[in-house]
Amino acid sequence: MQMNYRRHREKLLFLMFAGAIGIILLVIGGYQLIEFMDSTSFCGRLCHEVMYPEYTAYQASPHSRVACTECHVGSGADYLVKSKISGIPLIFTTIAGNYDRPIPTPVENLRPARETCEQCHRPERFAGDLVRVHTTYAADETNTEKVDTRILRVGGGESEVAQDIHWHIAAKVWYLPIDKKRQEIAWVGVEDEAGGLIEYVDPDKVAEVTPQRLAEKKRLMDCVDCHNRATHIFRSPEELIDMALAQGKIDKTLPYIKKLGLEALDPPNPSLEQAFTKVEALEEFYRTSYPQVYQERREAIDKAIEELKEIARLTTFPKMKVTWKTYIDNLGHQESPGCFRCHGKLVAAADDQEGEVIDADCQLCHYFELQQK
Ligand code: HEC
Ligand code: HEC
Ligand code: HEC
Ligand code: HEC
Ligand code: HEC
Repeated sequence: MQMNYRRHREKLLFLMFAGAIGIILLVIGGYQLIEFMDSTSFCGRLCHEVMYPEYTAYQASPHSRVACTECHVGSGADYLVKSKISGIPLIFTTIAGNYDRPIPTPVENLRPARETCEQCHRPERFAGDLVRVHTTYAADETNTEKVDTRILRVGGGESEVAQDIHWHIAAKVWYLPIDKKRQEIAWVGVEDEAGGLIEYVDPDKVAEVTPQRLAEKKRLMDCVDCHNRATHIFRSPEELIDMALAQGKIDKTLPYIKKLGLEALDPPNPSLEQAFTKVEALEEFYRTSYPQVYQERREAIDKAIEELKEIARLTTFPKMKVTWKTYIDNLGHQESPGCFRCHGKLVAAADDQEGEVIDADCQLCHYFELQQK
């Protein structure tokens, strides 16, 4: 195991060095190396340690067939060169081993998402509501099942008729974050037809909104301001176990399987080996506490153990200090402020509508009963 790892690391260092040379060649105009560096395996498998968490989460995501560069670089020569050049420091610090763990976000020089995501998605072509059914299980003997449904008003539509959640991308919504993580928003400006701005401010942070800061730091809201975890989705063991139970990958009739899985994987283990050891102990649990289940259901138990090991792989990243809590997800408002960075917080600045807060009515974005509308 250790030997294997060392060999990998040597290979990695070698390839990264080759990559650095590749950049120089790229600047001169080398072509095949560019293609090599663009390949998903360069980013993921070779940056085995640094980007291992992102690569792993990506492989389990809906975008597992989309190359890293489709989102991180997009098409067009200018961005290619720019992103490769800004990647040089990363390559050298990777060789030296003194990079940040975890890798900090937001990614500063990500190409505007409208130019990458929209190569494949046309949210303005979508209209209507999206039904999300969530099945969860209690940590009791029978793994009691509970089904929740929520309907999201995703909406969409081209500029004038755009509505609901995807209205933000048909409109031009500018905002001013005052912290690095873009969690504190002091100002929002929505462009109107005349090219003017309808402005909103956070009453507690008006002092931070200076013309200079606006000129330098304001951002045009794009896909990634909400979908910042579009593909590197670090789900918790709880979510993953629920999904596996719902999909039948783990047999939900095994007594206490939810509780046992959760106890083995949350809090995160200091190493994958330790996670595996804990998961393997399930066999002993059934043998001693449920001998009959153990006799009759060996196959289901083995399958559950295998699936829990897969979940361990998706949640155990001690080297990069990444857990499911590391990265903020802006797509909701439960674990982090998300939509509520603006909604229910910022107030209209114009004289005639002074004091009107950006709507945070619970029915604005979703509803929970199918017949209600
Ligand atoms: C579907 C689009 C998409 C694909 C494909 C994609 N990424 Fe990302 N990546 C993103 C977005 C969006 C962010 C988050 C940006 C932010 O929060 O600022 C991100 C962030 C990252 C980060 C910063 C750490 C983090 O977790 O936010 C790393 C490292 C990364 N990606 C590596 C990769 C690698 C390696 C691949 C290919 C194996 C890849 N990405 C494929 C969209 C993508
Ligand atoms: C090269 C094409 C491509 C690019 C670029 C791309 N996507 Fe996707 N995306 C897809 C495909 C294909 C799916 C559907 C996968 C499936 O259902 O199996 C998808 C699915 C999604 C979903 C739905 C996931 C779900 O749970 O239903 C979201 C949200 C999404 N993409 C957002 C984004 C965002 C945001 C970006 C830019 C950062 C992006 N995509 C870039 C191809 C792409
Ligand atoms: C204001 C926040 C916000 C912005 C900006 C935004 N989205 Fe979404 N989007 C959402 C929410 C919320 C959902 C529903 C979430 C869910 O349950 O999956 C969604 C759903 C989606 C889906 C899934 C729809 C389906 O039919 O499965 C796709 C694809 C998507 N968005 C792509 C994009 C792309 C591409 C952009 C940028 C052009 C974008 N979104 C911008 C909030 C946003
Ligand atoms: C950067 C600030 C900001 C963030 C973050 C934000 N919004 Fe908004 N949102 C606005 C503004 C501004 C409006 C327009 C308010 C108005 O016209 O009164 C708006 C309007 C809306 C509307 C009504 C659109 C219509 O039909 O007119 C919905 C629905 C909505 N947002 C959902 C969301 C969701 C869901 C999220 C999080 C995933 C989110 N917003 C995040 C600023 C934001
Ligand atoms: C600005 C838009 C917006 C508003 C206003 C809003 N929500 Fe949400 N809410 C969302 C989004 C987006 C999600 C995430 C949906 C997803 O992940 O599929 C969400 C998720 C939820 C969830 C599910 C959490 C989970 O993980 O199961 C609950 C419960 C919820 N909201 C309750 C409320 C309540 C109560 C209010 C009123 C105080 C409210 N929401 C107002 C956008 C909004």
